[in-house]
Amino acid sequence: MTANIVLLPGDGIGPDVVKSAVDVLTRVGEIYGHRFNFTSKLIGGEALRQGLGALPDDTRDACKASDAVLLGAVGDPSFDNRPPAERPEAGLLGIRREMQLFANVRPAKVWPGLEQSGPLKPEILAGTDLIVVRELTGGLYYGKPRGIEPDGSAAVNTMIYTRPEIERVARVGFKLAQARGKRLLSVDKANVLEVSRLWRTVVTEVAKEFLDVTLAHELVDAAAMKLALAPSKFDVIVTGNLFGDILSDEAGAICGSLGLLPSASLGEGPGLFEPVHGSAPDIAGRDIANPIGTIASAAMLLSDGLGLAKEAAAVNAAIEHVLASGLRTADIAPAGVKPTGTRAFTDAIVAALA
Ligand code: IPM
Ligand code: MG
Repeated sequence: MTANIVLLPGDGIGPDVVKSAVDVLTRVGEIYGHRFNFTSKLIGGEALRQGLGALPDDTRDACKASDAVLLGAVGDPSFDNRPPAERPEAGLLGIRREMQLFANVRPAKVWPGLEQSGPLKPEILAGTDLIVVRELTGGLYYGKPRGIEPDGSAAVNTMIYTRPEIERVARVGFKLAQARGKRLLSVDKANVLEVSRLWRTVVTEVAKEFLDVTLAHELVDAAAMKLALAPSKFDVIVTGNLFGDILSDEAGAICGSLGLLPSASLGEGPGLFEPVHGSAPDIAGRDIANPIGTIASAAMLLSDGLGLAKEAAAVNAAIEHVLASGLRTADIAPAGVKPTGTRAFTDAIVAALA
């Protein structure tokens, strides 16, 4: 196949890890006879630095016209004092909204050999393999009114969900659960928030379409605790934008490093694939970043974005092969193991594909 892939390397370590994923995709194309055309576009702090908005029109149009988008990271502390619309994050929030990527699928599992890298006892972590489905274009992130009083005396954000917004993301959660452990946990704060009461009602209604899936509900504070105490008990979690943001970072830390986690942001059109980690400006350009999150995101791009399941499986197998060979980037290297740099780690994955 021929596929047009837009690259949004973005800020910090974004360019480092996107380069790794492009190397892997290029090799996959050679081996399996696909042609991937890559076009790089500006987003976030990189775009702001060039005097453009955080999401230039040309970037938005190219993404919408693409077959899939691969994003590195967005965020730059030098813009920390700017209003929300002039921060790099506005680019990411803008592209999610423009492409209507309402479902963010964030799988978190223990990679073989990394059972010891996280903060949990290996016997508690063993068998962990969960997916957080995070609603991505609504909730507190986009609700209006929002703003800070000019005199700094107060600020407001609005958490709002409509019934159709809840229904469509719930269906993504149910379908994923149907294809694996058949258990869906909906996470909310229904003991306090009206938005969560509606969320719970609507998810419970959608459950009637998926009789083979067992639905449970959990309050977000309890869910966060259980994630730390017994992560292997989870199958698929569906939740709103803010709770999903928080729980997916927690899931990443539990699995050993946030640098390991991929994600797919899906809507009706092309998908956007990005690691869960941020821009990590302190290690940008230093050949230190863990490329696994982005390479695994490229695998999701192949399977969920382009329908190339066999190729995606080969990429994940190559990551496992390299981990089994003992190579570790700095974030997952135990004491006494010399860390491998981003480039060398990537080269090993590319070599393992053949
Ligand atoms: C994420 C990030 C973003 C978010 C930031 C960078 C705006 O934390 O993708 O999880 O909060 O959605
Ligand atoms: Mg986050």
